[in-house]
Amino acid sequence: MKLLVVGGGGREHALAWKLAQSEKVSEVIVAPGNAGTAREPGMRNAGVGAEDIDGLIELARSESVGLTVVGPEAPLAAGIVDRFEAAGLKCFGPSADAARLESSKAFAKEFMSRHDIPTAAFGVVDNVEEGMEMIHGIGLPVVLKADGLAAGKGVVICEEEADARATLEDMLSGEAFGQAGRRVVIEEFLIGEEASFIVVASGTQYLSMASSQDHKRRDDGDRGPNTGGMGAYSPAPVVDETVYRKIIGDIIEPTLSGLADDDLPFTGFLYAGVILTATGPKVLEFNVRFGDPETQPIMLRLKSDLVEIIEHALEGTLDDLSPEWDERTALAVVMAAGGYPGRYDKGHPITGLESAFPEDVKVFHAGTSLDEHGQVVTSGGRVLALCALGETPKKAQARAYQWIAQIGFEDAFYRSDIGFRAIGRS
Ligand code: AMP
Ligand code: GLY
Repeated sequence: MKLLVVGGGGREHALAWKLAQSEKVSEVIVAPGNAGTAREPGMRNAGVGAEDIDGLIELARSESVGLTVVGPEAPLAAGIVDRFEAAGLKCFGPSADAARLESSKAFAKEFMSRHDIPTAAFGVVDNVEEGMEMIHGIGLPVVLKADGLAAGKGVVICEEEADARATLEDMLSGEAFGQAGRRVVIEEFLIGEEASFIVVASGTQYLSMASSQDHKRRDDGDRGPNTGGMGAYSPAPVVDETVYRKIIGDIIEPTLSGLADDDLPFTGFLYAGVILTATGPKVLEFNVRFGDPETQPIMLRLKSDLVEIIEHALEGTLDDLSPEWDERTALAVVMAAGGYPGRYDKGHPITGLESAFPEDVKVFHAGTSLDEHGQVVTSGGRVLALCALGETPKKAQARAYQWIAQIGFEDAFYRSDIGFRAIGRS
């Protein structure tokens, strides 16, 4: 069977790499893909954008694709799964209605409060005065979130009243985030360690993917501006057996049954970004897709056939499966372009990709492309992630840093402390 993976980042390279290992798969087409997916055996790129749903349907039809797996949130929010299903094509992911869990933070918060799912106290406003009144009620610091999709940039933590007012005005004016900012969720500021918890879901059935943690800030020590993620690892030692059971019992199960009760049964990857507060885990956000860069270490640890897992999810027989994991820690360090998450250059040649990487080390591409000479060049802010396995978090980290030093391009940078929380705990 031919598979289609929609998207072109590190998450999609890792998903496609794992899917291509299945005996059921003859070829994986990635649209649009990157230089990594272009050069992977059993894989090829198609020049169709991840949001060009008509083009993707045409591609799936003309290539007789048996199953499509969607990486990013934008096509899911735009209804790619509904459109594929209407065209009689198998596509793994939630419907546009269920994808509102990610595409509207107001929807997600109202859903959680309706179903008693633990999350920060909040309100939703569409004008500044009402917002300021709510901020006085909640108290500082306060978290302001643009309602709609803002590519991870729509969350601002405000310590001072003047700052909160300016941010609120900026978001509501539509200038900072366009329509996505016309409504703003105002949240109580929570304190605790964060973890990512991802399940493969099919209605109320689910399979937990291994726990993970990412580092969202650009600089060492989890400082500096927010990014899409500068590194990640799996498992997350902070998610011990007790925390795991709380997340499942208080968050995952009520979320899936709440969605089913609201007539929005969820099929796809469900990602809960949780914060482990003194009073238990609470949801910071839901994503309706796999995490990036969490996918990279999780796929490196998954031993079971991902195609089989997805097929069971589509058939409603997930309960029959128990996936196998590599017991080791997988740790991914992102190499980014100088200037990211602000402005950065593109088109720099990347060296060292032909190094003799051992079997437990894998480079997943993200913002890369092939130039007219077939040279791999940078084409995005997060350029690649080097991912390594190790018996302990410390060994995985050492291996990742040993091998990432082989790779380079002009103005490249990466954090030097990915995994420090896990190492501190183990
Ligand atoms: P989100 O996109 O909603 O996950 O928010 C991005 C980041 O902002 C999170 O990973 C947290 O570090 C931080 N954040 C979001 N909401 C809160 C909150 N209520 N309290 C404290 N930090 C938060
Ligand atoms: N790593 C965070 C995300 O995928 O949203």
